[in-house]
Amino acid sequence: MTIPNLSQSRVLVVGAGLMGAGIAQVAAQAGHAVQLFDNRPGAAEAAKAKLAQTLEGLVAKCKLTAEAAAATLARITPVQAMAADVELVVEAVVENLDVKRALFAELEALLPDDAVIATNTSSISVTALARGMRRPERLVGMHFFNPVPLMKLVEVVSGLGTDPAVAQAVFELAARWGKVPVHARSTPGFIVNRIARPYYAEALMLLQDRAAAPEVIDAVLRAAGFRMGPCELMDLIGHDTNFAVTQSVFAANFFDRRFTPSLVQQELVDAGFLGRKSGRGFYRYPAGAPALPD
Ligand code: NAI
Repeated sequence: MTIPNLSQSRVLVVGAGLMGAGIAQVAAQAGHAVQLFDNRPGAAEAAKAKLAQTLEGLVAKCKLTAEAAAATLARITPVQAMAADVELVVEAVVENLDVKRALFAELEALLPDDAVIATNTSSISVTALARGMRRPERLVGMHFFNPVPLMKLVEVVSGLGTDPAVAQAVFELAARWGKVPVHARSTPGFIVNRIARPYYAEALMLLQDRAAAPEVIDAVLRAAGFRMGPCELMDLIGHDTNFAVTQSVFAANFFDRRFTPSLVQQELVDAGFLGRKSGRGFYRYPAGAPALPD
């Protein structure tokens, strides 16, 4: 397919949650005009307001000039409906195959034929997501990590139908955004989430066995040189998202026991203890007493 010049592209970010807000910030900081859409009323506006606070904090710490912060904010427009006048869509809605497929059908009815659609899915097969699309060759994974403005890595994930030129264009764009992109083929969990699953799984097993408290597990792993322990990391990611990713990797590996989802995490999701974003997970936010009974 002919690919528009993504370095100058207008960008639509769909999903204004943890990841979508960060992706909008990074794209806007790189100079793109960004539309931010979420189907939850008020979510895109709330994400922009939160971003304004974050940028203000950076200005206060002299990490960003006031002009750069204002210009970044001015480039982000929360929108009430998805529009057609963009060359690139980055999708960051919930980790659910049916929701994402329905969204792509809606987008393809709107977008010009050569617009690129990038999905931030953590684990769902890009090959499967593209099934049913009018132009499956335009879909590619653009897997950012949390928090998006700080984490350098981006997995650029090709499904069976992805046009290699689309993957290359997104790879180059990610590099332009100051990221360190890598190409990956769409296998379950891609690279990072395949390697990371056992990190979370063993911590959850320790908790299920009541072998140690989250604080202890996190302190041990930090002392061993990891930036974050597994429990605080799951709280940062969000248990709903982390659990959905495990379920998807488990199913995609034909229910290989190594990837079995955890009842401990299922309970947290059932309770709505989703981590930082809900104010409570393994820990309470802002910091305080441990959030779970012994
Ligand atoms: P989130 O729950 O913070 O945000 C998702 C947002 O999507 C919500 O605001 C929701 O209202 C919106 N949404 C749901 N369905 C929609 C639709 N049909 N149209 C428009 N908006 C819709 O989730 P988060 O953490 O931002 O994750 C989003 C995607 O990014 C998922 O695919 C996830 O697997 C992936 N991801 C998440 C990471 C993390 O650490 N949380 C890291 C890397 C990827």
